[in-house]
Amino acid sequence: MTSPKGKLIVFEGTDGTGKSTQLKLLANALQKKGLAVVSSFEPTNGVYGQKIRKLYSNRKDTTLEDELELFLADRREHVETLIAPALAEGKIVLCDRYYLSTMAYQGAAGLDPATIYKKNDFAPTPDLALLFYAPIETGVTRITESRGDTLNDFEKKEYLAQVAVQFAKMELSFIKRIDANRSIETIHKDVMYLVQELL
Ligand code: ADP
Ligand code: TYD
Repeated sequence: MTSPKGKLIVFEGTDGTGKSTQLKLLANALQKKGLAVVSSFEPTNGVYGQKIRKLYSNRKDTTLEDELELFLADRREHVETLIAPALAEGKIVLCDRYYLSTMAYQGAAGLDPATIYKKNDFAPTPDLALLFYAPIETGVTRITESRGDTLNDFEKKEYLAQVAVQFAKMELSFIKRIDANRSIETIHKDVMYLVQELL
């Protein structure tokens, strides 16, 4: 029987720490156990998410405040259309980035993380936030070499170092930190352990 309320598990951390890789492995493992899993990500592919993606190439065209409003609008839509309904159906929702990313990235850009946190009070509190950390250089190398991508405006190294500082400062009860500078398999085992503890 499905539980009356599902679980929200979010994947957080700087770029290239392996969040999407681990999310997929976890989703597969949970599905194999017969559990109902919904995988998603932010920024979404919705109207606001698409606007955010356009910003990637030219971030200077917008103010920090407007940028924050876009991330919030995207999340509001995501919560209303996907996250809240899935949780109400008792599903396990896995989300690649959530509001800790807003606190860290927009915080690093100059906004106050505590204010950002309050502005997210409409969003369900995660049951678990897996916070991946690794040297910035490691993540950047993975992105540029293994993934074949170039760094976009959100991914510049100095900025990412500031983002990492913001993530490191966070103290919320649902955060579990994961050393992402290890093999994919070893990290997956840690993720499974933490998730099994939760379920
Ligand atoms: P993120 O979602 O955090 O940006 P990805 O999961 O997309 O990171 O991983 C970025 C790149 O690094 C991908 O090419 C992926 O295959 C590779 N990768 C992911 N985890 C590891 C790991 N633990 N060790 C080495 N390479 C990894
Ligand atoms: P990312 O997960 O890297 O998506 P993609 O695979 O499409 O590049 O997220 C894109 C960038 O958006 C990432 O560098 C972090 C940034 N971001 C914020 O600045 N604030 C937020 O609230 C979120 C969710 C993401």
